Amino acid sequence: MGERKNGLVIAIDGPSGAGKSTVTSRLAKRLGYKQIDTGAMYRAVAWLISQTGIDPGDEAQLERFCGDVDVRFNCVNGTRRVLANGLDVTDHIRTPEMSLMTSRISALRPVREAMVRSQRFMGRNGGVVLEGRDIGTVVFPDAELKFFLSASAEERGRRRFAELIAKGEQVTLEETIAAVVQRDHQDSQRDLAPLRQAEDAIPIDSSGMGVDEVLDMMESIFREKINRTGTEE
Ligand code: DC
Repeated sequence: MGERKNGLVIAIDGPSGAGKSTVTSRLAKRLGYKQIDTGAMYRAVAWLISQTGIDPGDEAQLERFCGDVDVRFNCVNGTRRVLANGLDVTDHIRTPEMSLMTSRISALRPVREAMVRSQRFMGRNGGVVLEGRDIGTVVFPDAELKFFLSASAEERGRRRFAELIAKGEQVTLEETIAAVVQRDHQDSQRDLAPLRQAEDAIPIDSSGMGVDEVLDMMESIFREKINRTGTEE
């Protein structure tokens, strides 16, 4: 530890709807760290594939596409944007259809290899909070701090439902919970980098907890770590 010049690598993994995005962006702000939403990267790739007519079953074609794919984050007027091959895809990648498609696309080896390579590069100097499914197990197994954030499927479905309704999507609570369960299954049963808690990750069950409560807990664990190791001033 201590070789990363900008600070620690913090991994926040867990199933969809556990509150990772909110917690990651607020934790990064509190600590003055960068944030990397790796789910948004997989969504951006899935969107590109859906738009360009690439056949995800054609390994050679997919391999070529992934060799050149470029996903990055940008900040415009204080809002975070996701750029895929130069296109701003932020407003297209969070529909229920894209969620399901991303879950399938993110199971493909060429896609994962390209994204993991890019995530390691973006996080190499530390001072970064990465959220995803495999950050603590595959992308940065040597991350200095790992959290596994979960909540019951019901609670996660309810949160997702509220978000979708606020965006004007026509969905029911039952189908939203069913979609959460289906995605959990796809994400944890796949062969490559399945959703799994790293052995050295700190589990946090956010059911019934407020965001601030989760953040305070994470921040105090972070401070304790820094004080113990003296990694940062
Ligand atoms: O976190 P999210 O819901 O935006 O993620 C979208 C999909 O991408 C989800 O089905 C799992 C997948 N994903 C992944 O396989 N590995 C990651 N590190 C992040 C997301």
